[in-house]
Amino acid sequence: MKKKHSSKKNSTFTKKTSANIDRSLKVNVKTAKGRKLSSTNWLRRQLNDPYVKLAKEKGYRSRSAFKLLEINDKFNLFKFGDSVIDLGCAPGGWSQVAVEKTNSNLYKLMQKQGRVIGIDLNPVLYISGAELFEMDFLENNFEEKIRKILNHRVDNVLSDMASNSTGHKKSDHLRIMALCESAAFFAFDYLKNGGNFVSKVLAGGAEMELQNLLKKKFSKVINFKPKSSRSDSSEKYVVALNFNKQ
Ligand SMILES: C[S@@+](CC[C@H](N)C(=O)[O-])C[C@H]1O[C@@H](n2cnc3c(N)ncnc32)[C@H](O)[C@@H]1O
Repeated sequence: MKKKHSSKKNSTFTKKTSANIDRSLKVNVKTAKGRKLSSTNWLRRQLNDPYVKLAKEKGYRSRSAFKLLEINDKFNLFKFGDSVIDLGCAPGGWSQVAVEKTNSNLYKLMQKQGRVIGIDLNPVLYISGAELFEMDFLENNFEEKIRKILNHRVDNVLSDMASNSTGHKKSDHLRIMALCESAAFFAFDYLKNGGNFVSKVLAGGAEMELQNLLKKKFSKVINFKPKSSRSDSSEKYVVALNFNKQ
């Protein structure tokens, strides 16, 4: 397996973070005239979510940043000098983490510099050390466009892409699995030997097919639910390590 140089900072981050997390609900949100129940529930969750608070404190654009930090703590995805493609990167939490962990902003001057490329349907505000592009991953000419940006294979392909929820569980599951499968095929074309692939999936039946597909190309494939992923969400992450391009 590709040798990883995890820094001490990497491995202690989650322990410290978990210790700081207070999960007890504090803020109550009353239903307001004209506001849908689903919006009230979302607001209540946001206001009482310790990871939302912590993301603000640490300067991360999203609470999702903690999911990638946890995944990295557990599986040592990144090292300084790595190149990363972050699919579905808005508002930018994962890209911020990838920048830190690959040194793409040359924060550590004498160490290897990585490269982070973020793609999203929506515009993303500037992140030092990341190249950010407004693009549809599912567009027919996506690969043509990406080849103009990238003329080499990368160490990590990440996908936190999620289409807007339809409210229909089965349809949402199938839509996200289709995105995830396309991201996997993209990874097969763009990963270096020894590279890693991480993608959001939703529990609901079709994830075994994806696992089986990935197992043919990677040494290790694991489903992982980070602590920072809401327990009432069916979201989890498939982590595929050590790509073998043959
Ligand atoms: C959960 S958010 C990602 C959060 C991000 N990882 C972070 O830490 O800030 C999912 C993103 O996937 C993007 N997305 C969904 N379908 C996409 C597509 N076809 N092409 C590019 N981005 C897509 C959405 O626009 C949305 O911003």
